[in-house]
Amino acid sequence: MVKPGFRTFSFYNKLIFLFCLSPLIYLIIRTLSGNLSANPIEDLTHSSGWWALTTLVITLVVTPLKIIFKKPQILFFRRTLGLFSFFYASIHFVTWIALEQFFDWEAMVLDVLDRPFITLGVIAFVLMIPLAATSPYQIRKKIGNNVWKKIHRLIYFAVLIAVLHFLWLVKKDLTEPFIFLFIVLMLLGFRVFMWCTKFFPKDQ
Ligand code: HEM
Repeated sequence: MVKPGFRTFSFYNKLIFLFCLSPLIYLIIRTLSGNLSANPIEDLTHSSGWWALTTLVITLVVTPLKIIFKKPQILFFRRTLGLFSFFYASIHFVTWIALEQFFDWEAMVLDVLDRPFITLGVIAFVLMIPLAATSPYQIRKKIGNNVWKKIHRLIYFAVLIAVLHFLWLVKKDLTEPFIFLFIVLMLLGFRVFMWCTKFFPKDQ
């Protein structure tokens, strides 16, 4: 039997799926209609990086919304958003490997060692791999909820390092990366607050 409200959440999940897919569709349309800039590789790197970070940050918004609105079904959306973040981060990574470094492994190692923002990007991406790998329900069941939760705490480090990656690479106007940093710190602050109130209740 379908649980009450399940259909509504499944419908919203489809909307979120379409929302997350739209940047890719837009990029494909721009490519096919010849509307990319003079540097299409840069367009791809920037768009995939920006959407990887944005969807990662929106993933972190889901749990506070669930707590505030007391709607556990909202957690349904977290997986979709998180997987899209990994999807855009993978496009971002592959663009760097294939279109910027031309599969030259030595050049890649040098780039990682030479440019700290690349080092941070790679670390953020590596941290996202276990999150994506343990996202299927069968794997979550196999490893158990506690281990799954511990692994998924990596998202806090991944998002902070991804924002630092953004901050480090921007040379002129730092407004946008600082807006990301502010939002991420608020979202992590909310978790610290919840953790403190859980362990140190007001009436004690
Ligand atoms: C896999 C390793 C990664 C590499 C090699 C990498 C590399 C790059 C490069 C070369 C740029 C463009 C720099 C420039 O314009 O001078 C960039 C931009 C960016 N990257 Fe990464 N990155 C990585 C991972 C990530 C991850 C995991 C995220 C987010 C989750 C991310 C988010 C961004 C953002 C937000 C930008 C700026 C986009 C904009 O200008 O609007 N990157 N990255």
